[in-house]
Parts: sequence; C-alpha cells; structure tokens
Amino acid sequence: MRLLYILSGLLIYSTALAQQPGIIPVPLQFAKGNGYYTLNNYSSISYNNEALKTIAYYFQNELLSQKGITLQQKAKSANIVLLLKAGKKHTDSCAYQISIKPEQVTVSATHPNGIFYGVVSLLQLVITNKNNQLPVAEINDAPAYGWRGFMLDESRHFFGKQKVKSILNWMAFYKLNTFHWHLTDEPAWRLAIKKYPDLALIGGIGDYLNPNLPAQFYTQADINEIVAYAAARYIKVIPEIDMPGHATAANKAYPEYSGGGSIGHPEFTFNPGLEKTYGYLTDILKETNVLFPSGLIHLGGDEVSYGNEKWKSNPDILRLLEREKLKDDAAVEHYFMKRMVDSLYQLNARAIFWDEMAEADLPKEKTIIFWWRQEKPAQLRTALSKGYQTVLCPRLPLYFDFVQDSTHQYGRKWNKLYSPIEQVYQFDAQSFTENEKEKQLILGIQANLWTETVDSENRLDYLLFPRIAALAEAAWTPQKHKDFKAFSNNLNQHLVLYSKAGLYYYNPSKPLQNPEIPVRRKKPLNYKD
Ligand code: ACM
Repeated sequence: MRLLYILSGLLIYSTALAQQPGIIPVPLQFAKGNGYYTLNNYSSISYNNEALKTIAYYFQNELLSQKGITLQQKAKSANIVLLLKAGKKHTDSCAYQISIKPEQVTVSATHPNGIFYGVVSLLQLVITNKNNQLPVAEINDAPAYGWRGFMLDESRHFFGKQKVKSILNWMAFYKLNTFHWHLTDEPAWRLAIKKYPDLALIGGIGDYLNPNLPAQFYTQADINEIVAYAAARYIKVIPEIDMPGHATAANKAYPEYSGGGSIGHPEFTFNPGLEKTYGYLTDILKETNVLFPSGLIHLGGDEVSYGNEKWKSNPDILRLLEREKLKDDAAVEHYFMKRMVDSLYQLNARAIFWDEMAEADLPKEKTIIFWWRQEKPAQLRTALSKGYQTVLCPRLPLYFDFVQDSTHQYGRKWNKLYSPIEQVYQFDAQSFTENEKEKQLILGIQANLWTETVDSENRLDYLLFPRIAALAEAAWTPQKHKDFKAFSNNLNQHLVLYSKAGLYYYNPSKPLQNPEIPVRRKKPLNYKD
C-alpha cells in the first residue's frame, strides 16, 4: 500500500514535470490543452507586416540550423502566423501572446519586439521537443523588468566577433535585451577611433596576462556588424569608455592626456586639470555615439581612488582645485564627470555610471546608476533617494567571474562567498526597497563578467552557462512566479542544447561532467576584491 502510494505520487510528480513548458524564462501564463501542432518541412510561416520579415527569417534560420526544418514563407494562410496588432501606446513592447492549435499557431503582439519574443518561445518549445511538437496551449507573457542585461569585459581578455555574436544569440534566446560592452580599461583599449588611431593600435596591445600580445580590437566595421546583429535580436549595445580612472591603455597611446596613477596602478587616470582632455574625450565620445545608436554610453567613474595619487602633486589639477574651489579629489572627479556628461547631452545621449557617481550631482533625468557594491547598500539608497534610474548588478550574486561552487579555485570569492546558480535565480530586485516610487526607478538587473580569470572561450562558457538562464528568469519573471525546482527541471533540457552547441558549461547536478578549467597563469587580482 505504502509502495503504491509512493508510486502514484511519483506519477503525479512526473506528469507535473512533463507539463512544464520548457521555456526559460518561464512565461507568465501557460494554459495547456490537448494535442499538438507538429512542425515539419511542409509547415509555412506568414506575417502581416513588413517589420516582421526579419523575425520570420530569424525563426526559419534557427529552425534550419537546430532542427534541419525548412519552413517556407507564404503570403497568407500559413501554419505559423505572426500577427502585429494595433494596440494601446503604453502596452509593454515586449508583451506577446501565442495560441497553439492543432492546425495553426499564431504569435501576436502590438510591437515587433513582442513578436520576436513570441517566436523565441516557440523556438524553445520546438527545440526542446524530440518530435518537433508544439503543445496546444494559450500563452500570455510580458517581462517584469525592461533592463535585462549582460556585461562582457573585453579589455582584460579579447574574445572577438564570433564569440560575441554567439553570446548575443544566447542572450536573445533568453530574452535578455542589453549588452554592455566594457571595451576600455587598464590592460587594453579595444575600440577603433578614427581621430585617435593609436588608441586601438597601441592601446589594443596585450591583455591581462600577457602585455605583449599583438593589438586586438574592433574596427568600426566590426562594431557596425555586431550592433546590427544585436539589433536583429532586439538587443541594444551599450559601450563603456571608462573614465577618469581605468584609463591606462589609452594613456599608453596618448600620454599627453594622462593624469598619472599610483604605484599599483601607474598612469591610471585621465588628466581633469587639462582643458584639452575634455576636447579629446568628447571627440572619442562623438565617434562612439555614432557607432552605438542606443543613445546610452557608460562613462565608468569607478575606483578612481585606486590610482589617482599623482593628482595631489599634478600642477594642472592643483590649479583646477584653486580655480573651481574644489575641496578634494572626489570634487575633482565630480567636476570632470559633470563636464563629460554635458558633452554627452550635446550629442543627445544619456550617461551611465557605476555607483560611485551617485554622489556627484548629475542631472537625474539623463543619468543611470549601476549599483555594484553589494557591501554598500547605502550607495543604492543614495541613488534611489536622489531619484536616479538604477540597474542592480551587485557583485554577489551578479558578477559571473565569481565561482559557482565552493570547490572551484580559479575565479573570485568574497571571503568564502561565491555565486551559485540558485542565488542568481532567487535574486529579487523588488526586495531592495519598500517605496513604490523607488521601485519604479529600478530598471532591472544585469550580470557582469569581468575577465581577469577568463582567458579562454571554455572558461567564459563555464562561468556564463547555465547562470545566464537563471539571470534571464530573475529579470523576466515576477518573484511570485519563480520556482527553482521547475526552473532546474527546464534547465536540464537546455543543458542538452549547450552540449549540442559545443559549449563548455558547468552542470550543477553533475559537477564532474565538465571539470573547472584552470586559468593559464595566475596573477593576483590586485584591485577588484
Ligand atoms: C567595478 O566592478 N569596478 C564596477
């Protein structure tokens, strides 16, 4: 009797699991009926608006490469219908509905972005199903947050166009919509600027572990290609030109703009005391703003105090202090940032900063703050109480260079703390404030992959997969709909996809399947604790 009870319990449990839609992030509503629509080489697709043509093409392409299915476009009465509807102006552009019937599948939305996400959900359903069956269902979905981001640091290690495109494709697969590209820092500068070619040609030499590697950088044609690739997947690309600190590589190319550094971080800063520095950086931002149509540029502003010792004796800066009546180095930073922000506004772009800049009085309607120091909740309080739109990316659990298992040795830990997938999954952006106005200021969440310890594509994969899936669900799905067990079950089907794609991912339920990859040579992480 007891055995029977256990067996029937298992049956109900496995039926419940079998009914999981297999979509990550899990849709808001998924009402399953009976039967299937089966996709095959006779299936066709149509759309009612030219704006959906590239989305149909994306779906066809992915189906062909993942499943070998050749779906044909048809003018009308196709099996898969993409339907752009007239809708109210203020509905979420990412919202979509899917209706799967045994003879026809309709994806509808009031914005092409919603149609794209509907198509991504269909794609996930079909590629996680052996028989290409889409279950009869009504799906209604929209994201909890508008900012669902991922940052890649390519200053410390350069991965190149193909890997970046692959990451963008996986981001689209998980409905992540913002790619923050950390292109400049101490080891190297990775963005070609026509007016200052040595930034890339000289600043692009070397990486975190090897200062002598030939220059690696993105040409402006590369940037155009990647931005277009991202746009076709409804991802905006935000470049970061870090200033006034983390400027070492730029200063190697154009030392005349250097404000010096410290023993640990030589030539770390731009010189805020020199008038010509502002013209130089504005010229760089002008080209950057043309290359990246997102209208958002990240200006860094982090950790300046790690390498601004020379400011104390730099005559240009001493003159600036006196002229502008600035009381200390922080005031110099703030003065510098106000001027750079003014330059950006002239270009009709908005600025993003790390949380240090919540203390500078920058215009709040044109500034977004990234809260990254989880040990400084007061910094988040400052940003929100001053009315800044804010993105949450606290190191723990959202810096993906932190390891995901206690036995891992090569990535970061915070004392003994690290970043297991469950903590990424459970991250609840709403829990950081009770105040309704402040809740509205939280745009969303982002994971950041710094690459001091990421010197190969395999290590990149190992740190990114599968935590990217947990990030996506934490950003898309309201907290009350989240369920780690159901997510883990869905994830198992996605791990199969990672294997098929040749990714070297970490498997939380079989940690030894792909062992941790060592970093080629260990170098102390000297300023990012
Ligand atoms: C940072 O991690 N320095 C923003």
